[in-house]
Amino acid sequence: MSGGETMDGLTVVDHALLAHRLAALRDAATPSPRFRRLLAEIGAILATEATRDLPSTTATVTTPLTEMRHRVLAGPEPVLVAVLRAGLGLLDGAMGVLPEAPVGHVGLVRDEHTLKPSQYMLRMPPEVTSRGAILFDPMLATGGSAMAAVQRVKEAGAPHLRFVCVVAAPEGVRTLRAAHPDVPIFAAALDEKLDHRGFIVPGLGDAGDRCFGTEG
Ligand code: PRP
Repeated sequence: MSGGETMDGLTVVDHALLAHRLAALRDAATPSPRFRRLLAEIGAILATEATRDLPSTTATVTTPLTEMRHRVLAGPEPVLVAVLRAGLGLLDGAMGVLPEAPVGHVGLVRDEHTLKPSQYMLRMPPEVTSRGAILFDPMLATGGSAMAAVQRVKEAGAPHLRFVCVVAAPEGVRTLRAAHPDVPIFAAALDEKLDHRGFIVPGLGDAGDRCFGTEG
């Protein structure tokens, strides 16, 4: 697995299994139950990539044959933060690869006319002040929601943060990086643009609606 830098601070994760799942996720014919499964699997791959360089140390392990020194994590797993609603889909997979991670939630909804996000809930585990956090939201469109979510998690005391999304628009990457240049972004794809409604093109539609069957 390898990642490629395409914009400052953005890592577009390059992996055959990820690309294959993203193709199905983008497909308008993919029904909600499959969409959810795919999002969870993508969450696991992206969480794995976003934690590739977590600090590690060595410990002694006794195999059935001998003792050896082995690489292990130096500290506890970071806090995982889902940006509601759609971030919940990614969270399922992320928790699979980081099973000891405490979980926080930020509830944000974007006004479909102004495109401004408003917050309706915030719950953060106390470990966020020592462990840092990884935020999950499938869509980085205008960047307004990501900017607000990162701000809330910083205010909760997170010393360092990473932002994970599935599809990013260049506008969203620029906005988030300008507001929070210390926060690296990991995405499965950097898409072309936003349309006049603030939807990512080619994108995958409204991830929250497709995940939970609330379209139409
Ligand atoms: C979508 C998406 C992001 C946000 C991206 O959520 O999941 O949170 O919009 O847009 P932005 O970058 O322009 O802020 P939405 O507000 O539709 O809420 P939902 O997840 O509950 O569907």
